[in-house]
Amino acid sequence: MSDSLRPSAHPPHPPVVGTTLREHVLLGMRAAAGASGEFTSLLNHISLAVRIITSRVRSAGLADMLGYTGDTNVQGEEVQKLDEYANEVLLSVLERSGHCCLLASEELEEAIFNEKSGKYVVLFDPLDGSSNIDTNVSIGTIFAVYRRRTREGKPILDDALQPGRDIVAAGYALYGPSTIFVLTTGHGVHGFTLDPNVGEFFLSHPNIRCPPKGACYSANLGNYERWAPGAQRWADWINSEDKDHGLPYGQRYVGSLVADAHRTLLKGGIFAYPADKKSPDGKLRLLYEANPFAFLFEQAGGMATNGAERILDVLPTALHQRTPLVVGSREDVLHFREFLTGERT
Ligand code: AHG
Ligand code: MN
Ligand code: MN
Repeated sequence: MSDSLRPSAHPPHPPVVGTTLREHVLLGMRAAAGASGEFTSLLNHISLAVRIITSRVRSAGLADMLGYTGDTNVQGEEVQKLDEYANEVLLSVLERSGHCCLLASEELEEAIFNEKSGKYVVLFDPLDGSSNIDTNVSIGTIFAVYRRRTREGKPILDDALQPGRDIVAAGYALYGPSTIFVLTTGHGVHGFTLDPNVGEFFLSHPNIRCPPKGACYSANLGNYERWAPGAQRWADWINSEDKDHGLPYGQRYVGSLVADAHRTLLKGGIFAYPADKKSPDGKLRLLYEANPFAFLFEQAGGMATNGAERILDVLPTALHQRTPLVVGSREDVLHFREFLTGERT
């Protein structure tokens, strides 16, 4: 969708280092002729939810550390599993925002419809990397925002099943040594780091660009034997000695998509979760994992494919459908695709 047709996205405006996320989205609103302020308010609500999740993530270990069974904690409140908690926070904050006619979460089988609410659709993975929570490894939250396709009346599932190319905002929070909030509204990618003492996100990574080529690949090689031959040939190649291509690449794999994709976005290289015999459609979910990152990588000059086609062109048919996902530097993703299509052997 061309920018001029991209409803509600903020027009380009130069990011000013040191501004808060709140000020940054406000600048975007002021530059958008006729903006109602709803899109800005929605982004601020997403930021609020992330800040609430951050505070629980930072104390999540407390429950375990103090030996609580996980049923109740020192305040006597129920200690929820972090992904259930993150899901509850996002649902309640976004419902209270009044801007979302449809919410869909990895944690909910069905979408939540609200015909009395606004014109936005938010799809999210409330807690990505759940398997890493109890080992204190970085985890995250991923989201994609669309405008509803139906113009009035009851929202329908079709409002959620839009191709990623029609996203109006996408982003993620990475709960690492610090909490970083990375956002695009269709005009570049910007990273904001949380100052926990102030409770605000401050612009720390303006105009993130994914380098055209990297030196690191990220994949779960434990699945190698289950991969298609083309993916196996790619892995053999990227691990081979070839000074002209800077091979072998280094290998990093955290097992949290947000952590592996964030490193790849900043430093370049490639993240690949191909289809395999165990997950013939891939493991990662199209709507709230692959599409948001595909949109972010393309906005940062990178590339995203399922091995055959551009992720953002895939027409979704179900909320939780899975897809192979390969994102990263253009040159590195193109090489992967050449191995998968057989152009390169
Ligand atoms: P989630 O915790 O939201 O279910 O996502 C886990 C995903 C993703 O974060 C990561 O890239 C992938 O699972 C890791 O899968 P493997 O453990 O199979 O490598
Ligand atoms: Mn996930
Ligand atoms: Mn999850």
